[in-house]
Amino acid sequence: MSTPAPQVKEIPYDKIRAVEWETGRLKLIDQRILPARLEHLYLDHLLDAAYAITDMVVRGAPAIGVTAAYAVVLAARDRYQENPNGWQKAIQPDLELLALARPTAVNLRWAVGQMRGVIYSGIVGDPVPRLLSEAQRIHAEDIAANRRMGELGAALIAKDSGVLTHCNTGALATGGYGTALGVVRAGFAAEKIKKVFADETRPWLQGARLTAWELVQEGIPVTLIADSAATYLMKQGKVAWVIVGADRIAANGDTANKIGTYMTAVAARYHKVKFMVVAPTSTVDMNTPDGSKIPIETRAEAEVLNFGGTRTAPEGVQAWNPAFDITPAELIDAIVTEKGVVEKPTREKLAALMKKVKN
Ligand code: MRU
Repeated sequence: MSTPAPQVKEIPYDKIRAVEWETGRLKLIDQRILPARLEHLYLDHLLDAAYAITDMVVRGAPAIGVTAAYAVVLAARDRYQENPNGWQKAIQPDLELLALARPTAVNLRWAVGQMRGVIYSGIVGDPVPRLLSEAQRIHAEDIAANRRMGELGAALIAKDSGVLTHCNTGALATGGYGTALGVVRAGFAAEKIKKVFADETRPWLQGARLTAWELVQEGIPVTLIADSAATYLMKQGKVAWVIVGADRIAANGDTANKIGTYMTAVAARYHKVKFMVVAPTSTVDMNTPDGSKIPIETRAEAEVLNFGGTRTAPEGVQAWNPAFDITPAELIDAIVTEKGVVEKPTREKLAALMKKVKN
């Protein structure tokens, strides 16, 4: 028997869901077109979900994981219909393809691994109800983890602080509520945070398009800055904490996150601004010894050569577009997870934290 999904209660500033299961279909907010339009896509097959992850209809490490879990339900439905006796074998290539949809966020592989465990747990008959309940458990646990991290992270922040966040780590990037943006939500509700600054997060503009949209929906005031303004913001003493999410945390605490996170962490240390990484334990990868072993996704040159669909660089120019960078553990003041806070992370401290995670 698996653990039942936790109940999700109503709390302030928690209106948005990027990933939903609705009448037997996977429903996603199309994040490629926000904030111009709020539109949903309805998906029926794993291949469509894998493409949605690669093309950033849905993005953000935990949201990718939750989407992948529901995608496995879609694949099981198809494979069972085609071959009720051999679906467990037939679904293998689907799982492998799905796990490759994006390389850096370890939550994708983690969620596929959780679903694979259920597939080979000796299901008899139609696998959909059992797999759907596992996907819904993963989804609900992600929201519960985010709310817990919100409380733990907000507790570290002094009253009336200014904070800076990078990329989008909110409801759009998770099962709901958000990781770093969950701390912003909880900190704002508790009157710990009085001013929120968001990096626009060039080139894909997760900060300008998604974080700003999300906070406006929730009624939390936000001030957008160009990424290159972050250091000057710190120099002015306007922020006490930088709060970011993670796509993968290596066993020694080195953290992969959206490109630009590393330079923000370097600037924060120089200006004595604290640096907080907020991520569920499903983002901690004890099989990756340090940041140098984390695969970094390189995306299309077009994302850098264009702005809002308009070419901004001359023809004949090349671009380099790494989607993530690695912040060394020594620049991180606190890693906040649902199992507790690790201050000044080390290999030993993370190993102790991960002992609290049962499998
Ligand atoms: O390329 P993206 O938009 O998927 O990158 C997202 C990030 O880097 C987030 O900071 C990270 O996934 C944490 S989201 C809670």
